[in-house]
Amino acid sequence: MTMVAAPQLAANGGSPVRLRPWPTWPVWDEPDVQAVADVVRSGRWFAPGGTQVKEFAERWGAYQQARFAAPCANGTQALEIALRAVGVRAEDEVIVPPYTFIATASSVVNVNAVPVFADIDPDTGNLDPAAVEAAITPRTRAILAVHIGGCPADLDALGAVAKRHGLLLLEDAAQAHGAEWRERRVGAIGDAGTFSFQASKNLNAGEGGVVLTNDERIYDRAWSLINVGRVRDGGWYEHGFLSGNYRMTEWQGAILNSQMRRLDEQTARRNENAAYLAERLAQFPGIQPLQRDPRVTRHGYHLFMSRYDPEAFGGLPRAEFLRFLQAEGVPCSPGYSPLYRSDAFRVDATTHPFAGRIDYRSVRLEAVERLCEEAVWFTQSMLLAEKEEMDDIVAAVRKIQEAVSR
Ligand SMILES: Cc1ncc(COP(=O)(O)O)c(C=O)c1O
Repeated sequence: MTMVAAPQLAANGGSPVRLRPWPTWPVWDEPDVQAVADVVRSGRWFAPGGTQVKEFAERWGAYQQARFAAPCANGTQALEIALRAVGVRAEDEVIVPPYTFIATASSVVNVNAVPVFADIDPDTGNLDPAAVEAAITPRTRAILAVHIGGCPADLDALGAVAKRHGLLLLEDAAQAHGAEWRERRVGAIGDAGTFSFQASKNLNAGEGGVVLTNDERIYDRAWSLINVGRVRDGGWYEHGFLSGNYRMTEWQGAILNSQMRRLDEQTARRNENAAYLAERLAQFPGIQPLQRDPRVTRHGYHLFMSRYDPEAFGGLPRAEFLRFLQAEGVPCSPGYSPLYRSDAFRVDATTHPFAGRIDYRSVRLEAVERLCEEAVWFTQSMLLAEKEEMDDIVAAVRKIQEAVSR
């Protein structure tokens, strides 16, 4: 019997599984350029006198099945505006997940409220409704759920917890464009929700954000908060309260309207490729894609997230696995660290007058700690490749597994 030597890993000088590039992001064409050029030529560069941001508000609200949409400059601002618009006040506690981008929790601090971290469901990476319920105190005012990676959180259970305790439910849908929970688009299933259109996002204007709601009073307030406290349908110098200027520009509106042309097709492709990849990766005992609740009828797939088990790879540490995978031509990353451990949350009485009462350094939530040790991320633009290119990811994983198990 002839022994066939396993191919050498690219990290050790072998040839990589994949040499050709992955799809680049953003995707754009001449009509995108034209859309921005048309704004330039129109001379209407400012949203209150223009058409693009208004059109986008209508289209995005309709797309996400929300009655009202208030666009603003970015997703971080959208969160702060949503928190203020629903009535979160100084010293209120807002329950957030620790497996997310910092803005989910920093926005709470920025409105002088207190983020309280509750653990995630290990299967999905989203807030665990039981952990949320256990974190409620008399000061809790809202739950801010994140649809992480584009996968809707359990809005049924979180909604039930919110209802039982008289709390507001907000959705940080920054990563969940087009995602659906039980065939309903996310963003306005809770009291209000937000999206980001920052450069990496599945709908991209470089920067951009929006607040969605079905409640006209919340919308009015969000609109005013974005527009220096102006009164909607009021005079130019009529201000109901103090706020900043958080408006989206016409350039952002124009590119978003134009980019929306391809969002459905791209989302469908990501869903198809992700389903195929998840099925193929299931062959490997050590790579387990995060689960998708059957009530998630459409995933946003901003990220494709899996868990890595070193045991199945001869004890190879995750950092080495990621390095090997990169060398094989498969971009990947370890993703987030538990947010409460960020230096940014060493808040004390000098940086934040109300949050000093929580010592975030002593927080330790088991499921998030584990996911942060095990996660392997692929980004949305890889899922825009052809279906057979998903096999490159599978082949690279197989090659590493074979090499380290020899
Ligand atoms: C979950 C989450 N929330 C909020 C944000 C903030 O959005 P932005 O970067 O547009 O401020 C992002 C992305 O950056 C995000 O991923």
